[in-house]
Amino acid sequence: MQDFLNSNLFIINFKNYDEISGTKSARLAKSAAKIAKKHKLKIIVCPPQHLLAEVARSSSDVFAQHLDNSKVGSTTGYVIPEIVKKSRVAGALINHSEHRIPSNEIEDLVRRLRDLQMISVVCVQDVSEAWMYAQLNPDYIAIEPPELIGSGKAVSKEKPEIITESVKAVKKANNSTQLLCGAGIVSGGDVSRALELGAKGILVASGIVKAKNWEKAIEEFALAFVRK
Ligand code: G3P
Repeated sequence: MQDFLNSNLFIINFKNYDEISGTKSARLAKSAAKIAKKHKLKIIVCPPQHLLAEVARSSSDVFAQHLDNSKVGSTTGYVIPEIVKKSRVAGALINHSEHRIPSNEIEDLVRRLRDLQMISVVCVQDVSEAWMYAQLNPDYIAIEPPELIGSGKAVSKEKPEIITESVKAVKKANNSTQLLCGAGIVSGGDVSRALELGAKGILVASGIVKAKNWEKAIEEFALAFVRK
């Protein structure tokens, strides 16, 4: 767990893009692992739920895209922390913009992940949510303005102030939570800018998943971390 918290995080959310369907998720995860090893970087992959265990068999850096706050036992169809942990899943996105959940569930999931020594990344849409959820002391808050998600226009260039303000909000909570950012990040320059603004790492989906050459795109992003 400490190795996640001590390094910059580069998270690739596969979402449900057709480009990662079937065996292609494992291929993308393999490309990420290769570049991570080459540059000694933490690159986390978030495959679709049904592929979590398969991808986690060959990578230790797998997070779920979403978890349900349902109990262990008779909860058909729900995907829950205690069970994915046993398939070597190391953490999860919580409350992604495309899969929002009520605040009481966010609170419960942050606690459950902490108890299981799994990494929690609470996604938020604005600075006030960053402040509100930073007080739960998740490992990370990820700020993603919804209107920039999938737009190819990077949060770090279109709305730099939302990153700097969120960094301040997270610091104000005065705990160990750190800030990530995402939405529209498509180049190494976008990543560098995010890090300059104080983010500890990034969340990206389309900029990698839809790239023609996955390894080339991942390496461009990785170099921005290395050169920081
Ligand atoms: O989870 C990452 C995400 O919402 C950002 O998506 O396509 O703008 O990189 P994208």
